[in-house]
Amino acid sequence: MSVLVSPSLLSANFLELGREIEMINRSEADWLHLDVMDGVFVPNISFGFPVLEAVSKVCNKPLDVHFMIVHPEFYIHQTARTGAMMMSVHYETCIHLHRVIQEIHAAGMKAGVTLNPSTPVSVLEDIIRDVDMVMLMSVNPGFGGQKFIENTIRKVQRLRRMITESGSNALIEVDGGVQQETAPRLVQAGTDVLVSGSYIFKAADPLAAIHGLKALGNSFAQSNCKTT
Ligand code: DX5
Ligand code: ZN
Repeated sequence: MSVLVSPSLLSANFLELGREIEMINRSEADWLHLDVMDGVFVPNISFGFPVLEAVSKVCNKPLDVHFMIVHPEFYIHQTARTGAMMMSVHYETCIHLHRVIQEIHAAGMKAGVTLNPSTPVSVLEDIIRDVDMVMLMSVNPGFGGQKFIENTIRKVQRLRRMITESGSNALIEVDGGVQQETAPRLVQAGTDVLVSGSYIFKAADPLAAIHGLKALGNSFAQSNCKTT
């Protein structure tokens, strides 16, 4: 079992963004997670396309873009032009989710759908085979550094069952409050991708924090070998 790590730039030092990206480039991170907020869907505003475009020029990791905005469908082509690998939209913002997923694919990106903590995974039953990733919010979206919501563990387990039973290839990503104590439990429950912001960027040694999260995949692979 391997786990992918997607550091969330929201907790980076914005005065030193170039250096932060260099650190990510040197690290074992698999992707870079970028949080776009509009102050409408979530009670905060982060950054938009000028930052995405600048980051994409210097970052050598695939960009995992998380839109916390109303009408994300207005920005599919602009996102594709930044070279983003993954565009994730919130279920709660898309009345015509199936159409949005198709348009993201047509623009050449992988399509992710994100659920707020209060949105049950069952709403995805009829779309699960069409998406490349489901992102479960383990905090209420809008801010870094919040406390992990425990119910997320059961949600990951339920989503894992739904994915297996439907024959979907969707990855499970978890976003919010991911750190040394919550990450092992999330991986054990079936999480494929760990997003982590403050735990990585506020660490004394961010490279070691990323290494620690990556190593979780290996340690579970080993413990599974021993038991089988
Ligand atoms: C919150 C964002 C997260 C945030 C996570 O709405 O979607 O990606 O950066 O931050 P931490 O890991 O500090 O909870
Ligand atoms: Zn995010």
